[in-house]
Amino acid sequence: MADKSKIWGGRFQSGPSGIAERISESISFDHVLYDVDIRGSIAHVNMLERCGILSEESSHKITDALRSIHAEIEQNGLEFSWALEDIHMHIEKILTDRIGDDGKRMHTGRSRNDQVAVDTHLYLKETIEGQSGLLLSVMKTILEMAEKYRGKIWAGYTHLQIAQPVLLSHYILSWFWKFARDFQLMQFAYSETCQNPLGAAAMGGPNYPVDPDMVREELGFGKSYENSMDAVSNRDYQLSYHFFASRLSLHISRFCEDMIIYNTSEFATIRFSDAVTTGSSIMPQKKNPDIAEILRSKSARITGNLNSLMMNLKGLPTTYNRDLQDDKVYLFDTIKNVTLILEGMKELLTNVIFFPDKLQKNLEAGFGTATDVADYLVAGYHLPFRDAHHISGAIVAIAEQKKVFINQISPADIATILKPFEDKYNIKINLNPAEFTVEKSVSRRGGSLSTSPEMVERQMDKARKLLEEIRLTCF
Ligand code: ARG
Repeated sequence: MADKSKIWGGRFQSGPSGIAERISESISFDHVLYDVDIRGSIAHVNMLERCGILSEESSHKITDALRSIHAEIEQNGLEFSWALEDIHMHIEKILTDRIGDDGKRMHTGRSRNDQVAVDTHLYLKETIEGQSGLLLSVMKTILEMAEKYRGKIWAGYTHLQIAQPVLLSHYILSWFWKFARDFQLMQFAYSETCQNPLGAAAMGGPNYPVDPDMVREELGFGKSYENSMDAVSNRDYQLSYHFFASRLSLHISRFCEDMIIYNTSEFATIRFSDAVTTGSSIMPQKKNPDIAEILRSKSARITGNLNSLMMNLKGLPTTYNRDLQDDKVYLFDTIKNVTLILEGMKELLTNVIFFPDKLQKNLEAGFGTATDVADYLVAGYHLPFRDAHHISGAIVAIAEQKKVFINQISPADIATILKPFEDKYNIKINLNPAEFTVEKSVSRRGGSLSTSPEMVERQMDKARKLLEEIRLTCF
């Protein structure tokens, strides 16, 4: 007896074993595609009718029933059956149970291979549209923070050692540009996703004169694929989204890491408000930055999903193989976590307070103006940079030894350090370390990339303009 319970059961003597059904099912995760699956089917059936492949009567019966099935799933959910494998077969079964033979006509000129491709393209396309708003809102929040702390001094670190004073707005905006680049990557993934694969059928195209362009237009894609074999085997659009997500999550992770360090009692140069911290079950004094820590850890999971898809695809023969069914496990997990980290990042940004005044002292203690001393000697006395570097280093060493700030060193100590160089170059050097304040250090910085107040203002103007103009385009 043929296994009539399966849509593909015609040539089978018996059904798959229990474990085989559990292995092959995807309804437990692809049920979220019900909305795009039904919209895709409606577009397909409308096209079949307009191309004269399906009668008007059958087409209307199918699309009306699909609309009511959609409404019912929205309201009551969907009962899963392992035997029906995936969302496509669940919906087709409900449809045929409801309208009989006309329901069986829906799949004319189509395969689940291009059906699942159109579903995931549409689902991801609309997901990116929603997430682009979240990303822009993170960028806007960053810009507002930069504006709020205008003129305040912050420390720039290399090797996690104080390097040079910078404007706090400059530090904050350094994150803006990373997210702006992520937006471009998102746009790239979006362009690749904005393509219609329906019309590929199993892989060689259907035996009917279908018009994929009608489907493309109805579903809002920018173009259709050029090649049916490419359309059903391609997962590049997902890879691009995964890469965008991984890099975004990496940026968020690095930002969180900065905040976690600055929030320690040793640094104490920022503080999280209660909204984004949690307590310890044993140590009453603790206020832990768990939210930043979890956001940091999400990058591992998101990047893991990129890796999973790459491993899935590596060595996979063209065109469709069932391995590809698992792409949705990685995709949906990453989609969920991208929304989470974008919302979390915004929450974190609105719940962090910077203490720039505290850093002023740290900068002085950390000899953050030592480079300025060296550059002053180069600019004012034409000393070779290496000699100037040596003098400044010797000043730092004395300050360290005497436990004073660089601008508190005695004129006698300075004179001793300068003497051999004055003799060598036959010059008289006038050097007062008290002149080297952090504010002056910041204002002196030159060039369009620098942290000088003028350039940071210009940077904010550019960021503002970018936010006004930037938008996602389907091309
Ligand atoms: N659930 C399947 C998937 O997600 C649908 C495609 C099945 N195609 C096939 N040739 N068995 O990939």
